[in-house]
Amino acid sequence: MLILGIESSCDETSVALVKDGKQIIEELTISQIDLHRLYGGIIPELAAREHSLHIDSIIFELIEKANISWADIDRIGVVNGPGLISSLLVGVIAAKTLAAFLKKEIVSVNHLKAHICANNLNKEKEQDFPFICLLASGGHTQIYLVNSYSDMIILGKTLDDSAGEAFDKVARMLGLNYPGGPEIEKLAKQSQNNKKDFPFVRPKINEFDFSFSGLKTAVLRFIKSQEYLDPELKADLAKAFQEIVCVELGDKLIKAARKYKCKNIVIAGGVSANTRLREFLQDFSEEFNISAPLLKYCTDNGAMVASAAYFCPENSNSNFTVFSR
Ligand code: KG4
Ligand code: ZN
Repeated sequence: MLILGIESSCDETSVALVKDGKQIIEELTISQIDLHRLYGGIIPELAAREHSLHIDSIIFELIEKANISWADIDRIGVVNGPGLISSLLVGVIAAKTLAAFLKKEIVSVNHLKAHICANNLNKEKEQDFPFICLLASGGHTQIYLVNSYSDMIILGKTLDDSAGEAFDKVARMLGLNYPGGPEIEKLAKQSQNNKKDFPFVRPKINEFDFSFSGLKTAVLRFIKSQEYLDPELKADLAKAFQEIVCVELGDKLIKAARKYKCKNIVIAGGVSANTRLREFLQDFSEEFNISAPLLKYCTDNGAMVASAAYFCPENSNSNFTVFSR
């Protein structure tokens, strides 16, 4: 089954053609990062305008690049939430118009499930159930027990900031670009570990929930207490911050898998691209089967939407609207 996936929930206009939820035939993404960087974060109004500027041409270009005809498409999948309402509307209206005109089946896709389905993309086999999943993105940080895509139990979630948001905010405090995750990771790699006594500790919070706002405030206080942050200290700080976030995420994920006696672990969402988080989990690879999306598919993309439209479509007709949370 060939599926056209459309993603426009945040700051990427991304489309892809995926066969049977796994094999990527073609993909195209227009990132808005350079635009939003000017403001240090996403401006929803600008995001929606950019999507509407590019959505039709990117779909036409995709079909041309894949060298297929419209008739070859079996289904159209589009994210209808959670995300920025005005941005979601652009993708949903494009998808509905296309489906009506081409007389194709259209399904809506949950953005979070799409991130999880990224674990099926260009992999030898699809993800086995059940699995314990850490979904850590710019908008969400949750641990689930996933018995099937329609039976997902939330075991814990963040009570304030998401992990991605914490990376973005701390990056901003350090004068780094948006999005902050990859910037902090890059800076942390330069650390020679000269300064180790930062006043940052792991949040004290119940079993599988998270809280990153206290850590964020501790970083801010530390920065304010310094007259000058030299490049070495900045790199050490980035490393110390990243270490706490990744150990917090990884440790709770492992504990959840042990508690629920689940052999399969899956990570998903933008933060799952983080090398330190992946290294942390690697140490448990004899005890668990650990799956992560290929790096390119951790952040928002149309291919994960097409995969979710195959494995876990949300509806069977076009009567759906958009939702933010
Ligand atoms: O999943 P995503 O693309 O968008 C949402 O659905 O929110 O995630 C974006 C988030 C941003 O906060 C970004 O800073 C973070 O993922 N991120 C990372 C890395 N790459 C992206 N965080 C830590 N390390 C990374 N390498
Ligand atoms: Zn996302």
